[in-house]
Amino acid sequence: MAKKQDNVKYTLPREVHTKLIDGYNSLKAEIVRSYDQSKIYARELNDALKAMKIGDQQLKQASSMMGRVRQQSLIYAKELQLAHQQIERSSLNTLGVLAEALDARDHYTSGHSSRVTESSVQIAKTMNLSHKEVEIIRQAGLLHDIGKIGIRDGVLLKPGKLTEEEYDLIKQHPIKGYKMLKGLSFLENALDCILYHHEQYNGSGFPEGLRAENIPIGARIIHVADTVDAMTTERPYRKALGLDMAIAELKKFRGILFDSAVVNAFLINCKAS
Ligand SMILES: [Fe+2]
Repeated sequence: MAKKQDNVKYTLPREVHTKLIDGYNSLKAEIVRSYDQSKIYARELNDALKAMKIGDQQLKQASSMMGRVRQQSLIYAKELQLAHQQIERSSLNTLGVLAEALDARDHYTSGHSSRVTESSVQIAKTMNLSHKEVEIIRQAGLLHDIGKIGIRDGVLLKPGKLTEEEYDLIKQHPIKGYKMLKGLSFLENALDCILYHHEQYNGSGFPEGLRAENIPIGARIIHVADTVDAMTTERPYRKALGLDMAIAELKKFRGILFDSAVVNAFLINCKAS
């Protein structure tokens, strides 16, 4: 082999030719290495792309699952809210039945809570109170006298004049009602209306002698509706006084015992009916 090479005729000096061949061979080896390396890179890139596709697919699946989980959570939340509202309605109905049963202890006050509620809601609407305030007044109207449940029949149903001690006991019913219902979260906004429904506009009422706008608007409204119902229904010691007399009383004590705006709203409702 060496001999054959020796016979080759070189157009370039042998050393130059050898260097060229060596350069060519190392270049060729470099190209082959680069080619092999690029094949490795291409394979790795391909694998990476495949992994990305799988990742992308998994991401889409995860995203779709998240969407389904979110939708299901919303359905559960809605169902929970409905169940919660249902429980609140049932509890209010139960308390309402209790209030009606309490009214029925005395045939003179039978239906009193329902009538006071209806009248209070009408006044509140005439005064353009918000839907939320009207609903709070509805709850408070229904339950305003619930504290009377803690007062014995001998006092509550006494046909004659009450002693001072007995009257003091009766005056405890707003506080008793407040304490009874405290802790029922769905009634928390109605509690103050129940506690203060016997407060008078000039501060002469009970249990705290609050004045004017310090008395919650719901309590001022229930106070007017309550007074009218008490006057227009028969009592053991007198006959029903009639709506005209009740209206005259409201006008006489408008701005004194009763909030003028509440009385005016009541009078508008009377004219409308
Ligand atoms: Fe009362």
